[in-house]
Amino acid sequence: MPDFKYYTPTRVIFGKNTEDRTAELIREYGGKKILIHYGGGSVVRSGLLEKVTNILSEAGISYVTLGGAVPNPRLGLVYEGIDLCKKEGVDFLLAVGGGSVIDSAKAIGYGVANEGDVWDFYDNKRRPSACLPLGVILTIAATGSEMSDSSVITKEEGLVKRGCNSDLCRAKFAILNPELTMTLPDYQTACGCTDIMMHTMERYFTNGGTMEITDNLAEALLRTVMKNALILADDPKNYDARAEVMWAGSLSHNGLTGFGSDGGDWMTHKLEHEIGGLFDVAHGAGLAAIWGSWARYVYKDCLARFRRFAVNVFGVEETGTDEEIALKGIEACEAFFRSLHMPTNLRELGIDASDSDLETMARKCAAGVGGGKGAAKFLREADMLEIYRASR
Ligand code: NZQ
Ligand code: ZN
Repeated sequence: MPDFKYYTPTRVIFGKNTEDRTAELIREYGGKKILIHYGGGSVVRSGLLEKVTNILSEAGISYVTLGGAVPNPRLGLVYEGIDLCKKEGVDFLLAVGGGSVIDSAKAIGYGVANEGDVWDFYDNKRRPSACLPLGVILTIAATGSEMSDSSVITKEEGLVKRGCNSDLCRAKFAILNPELTMTLPDYQTACGCTDIMMHTMERYFTNGGTMEITDNLAEALLRTVMKNALILADDPKNYDARAEVMWAGSLSHNGLTGFGSDGGDWMTHKLEHEIGGLFDVAHGAGLAAIWGSWARYVYKDCLARFRRFAVNVFGVEETGTDEEIALKGIEACEAFFRSLHMPTNLRELGIDASDSDLETMARKCAAGVGGGKGAAKFLREADMLEIYRASR
């Protein structure tokens, strides 16, 4: 078992009406001039933005707003946010929305606190040395960005989607009110549940060692998300199911389910980021579309983990060879995604990818990971292309 660190500094405020505490929390963390960052309008329609601005106004905290963060958030808006923050003297960021808004806010935070082009941090040319403090009011359980060290941004030129990971951007506080997720379309709820599962699965499928406690936590998290995702498919206003999924989303990407391992595989995410960059699909759906092809390509090189996954997460009977059991687990996982109306290949995702699209994605993916990556199986460009081809 490798040595490890565990750092999750984000203060979580969980439950109904917890957004009422926004002003008090911002004050506690020293925020005087706030940028409220949001997305394409769901928080306007739900009344959440108005509620939050009223709370800040009543507390005498001044703010500016910047909406427009889109799924697969764009670098152009990040630059706009950096300029706005500098002009207005913003010293605290409040992201009101999902992973895209939070990631965009993190990028703005890097851009304000460091000299030079913020894209350098996403392009792996430099490391950031600071970030503006950030608070989050989460409206979709999915990415875990509210507790993660990660921010993923798409550069319009060349449609390059890249992540920057650093503890500097971790949110000071995350307000998690499951009720705020009740306005989500069913498709987004399902995408979110898929992404949550995948953050744990990326850590689970590794040859780099794990701990029993971590494996047990991971499997329980996966079973809990699956159970509650199905409840929400029938009953989207079910508070308890929303709460289970929301907390699972944070735990799935704050390091807990990778404790004591080498960090995990992460190639499903890397492969998806190219799909999202090129075709602008919802992240969770992109993951579901590529996972099965990835899993079939790598499972023999990580057989014990795939076998365990099949038995402990999907209840596959322990009859037959290890390979047969592992394959049944992959099939069961794909069947689960389909039960949530998630795609299990690119066509179901609505993408008609040409050979040259697949080659472009494989080339960009390999470049983005410095040539190769993967802890279940180490993949290079030729492997990535095979997986994209199998997913068509
Ligand atoms: O933009 P608005 O109008 O708010 O609508 C959003 C968006 O269309 C909508 N939505 C969110 N909350 C809602 C709502 N609609 C109704 N009611 C609500 N309560 O849902 C849509 C998706 O929102 P988005 O923020 O894009 O979703 P998600 O949280 O899945 O974020 C996806 C982005 O995060 C990145 C993904 O790659 C993608 O770019 N990721 C970030 C990670 C991180 N920072 O740790 C890790 C992930 O693996 C992921 O890569
Ligand atoms: Zn993800």
